[in-house]
Amino acid sequence: MLALKGLILSGGKGTRLRPITHTSAKQLVPVANKPVLFYGIEAMAQAGIDEVGIIIAPETGDEIRAAAGDGSAFGVRLTYIVQGEPLGLAHAVLTAEPFLGDCPFVMYLGDNLLQGGIEGLVSAFRAGAPDALILLTPVPDPEQYGVAELRDGAVVRLVEKPSRPQSDLALVGVYMFTPAVHAAARAIEPSGRGELEITDAIQHLVDEGRRVEPHIVKGWWKDTGRLQDMLAANRLVLDTIESRVEGELVDSQVDGRVVIEAGARLRRTTVRGPAIIGAGARLSDCYVGPYTAIGAGCTIQNAEVEHSILLAGAQVHDLLGRMESSLLGRNVKIGRDARQPRAYRFLVGDNSEIGIL
Ligand code: G1P
Repeated sequence: MLALKGLILSGGKGTRLRPITHTSAKQLVPVANKPVLFYGIEAMAQAGIDEVGIIIAPETGDEIRAAAGDGSAFGVRLTYIVQGEPLGLAHAVLTAEPFLGDCPFVMYLGDNLLQGGIEGLVSAFRAGAPDALILLTPVPDPEQYGVAELRDGAVVRLVEKPSRPQSDLALVGVYMFTPAVHAAARAIEPSGRGELEITDAIQHLVDEGRRVEPHIVKGWWKDTGRLQDMLAANRLVLDTIESRVEGELVDSQVDGRVVIEAGARLRRTTVRGPAIIGAGARLSDCYVGPYTAIGAGCTIQNAEVEHSILLAGAQVHDLLGRMESSLLGRNVKIGRDARQPRAYRFLVGDNSEIGIL
């Protein structure tokens, strides 16, 4: 078999994660202080895949390039492929055809996180040599995903976001394909949302009598498209970190699994893990509770933060109540305002959400 290539999809508009995605690609939102996208690239490297194409959109492509570079930091070679318009996952495959050539490949949606990587799946794909291998997992809300119906362990039908799902098995955003998928992607028509769906291309393979092997995912899987999914992914990854304190603690205390990056400084602060405090962050008179990721250079004073993600440079000060289940974008400032008249004062971008006590 030819060497496997990798294809990571990092385009899309990220509408479900606005306002963060008004200014940044959804694949670069950090989980445990690391962009979601990097977990996918690392999974490729771990599985021995060293040629990886990244599909980017014209709007966010430069930012993705700047973050992931040539791939040498991950031990892979990255090739960037611009998809001019977001016309679907199967369209992305066709856009990447010149890069993929005749190689079988692993396709990984850049906003997905899969526990345990893809090494075992790559071995199963090589051993069984099916035309395609898909990953499935039971979910409570299958209508939000591509859904598979199995009969006697074989795939019989795949439907993208069905209004009346016939099973609870969602298609996970990691797929393995032989070059047969290119002809399938060319054969299908755009869906109701105007996209060439990879789900339909795989159905086409099934209809042609090709072998599509289903694998039920054993560990956890997260599509980080929405706030609650980002927070869940952050919890799952923070649960696996190893404690490391490189920053400076003054009259402060850390309990449980906690990472304090170099250059961070904590005064009169308690951090109860699992949590991560990024490089250069400044915390004083704070409580940081479980499942919190504080980005590099954040400042928190006289406040309590729990179960939240703060992007680099965010500032929080003098809160009377605890902040929780929140996602703050880069350089966001939240704090008590002593000026008169006593009032709430907001400068908030489109699609922001604020909940007050
Ligand atoms: C896409 C696929 C869907 C799959 C999901 C996994 O959905 O179309 O079949 O279940 O990714 O994350 P989208 O994110 O485009 O809504």
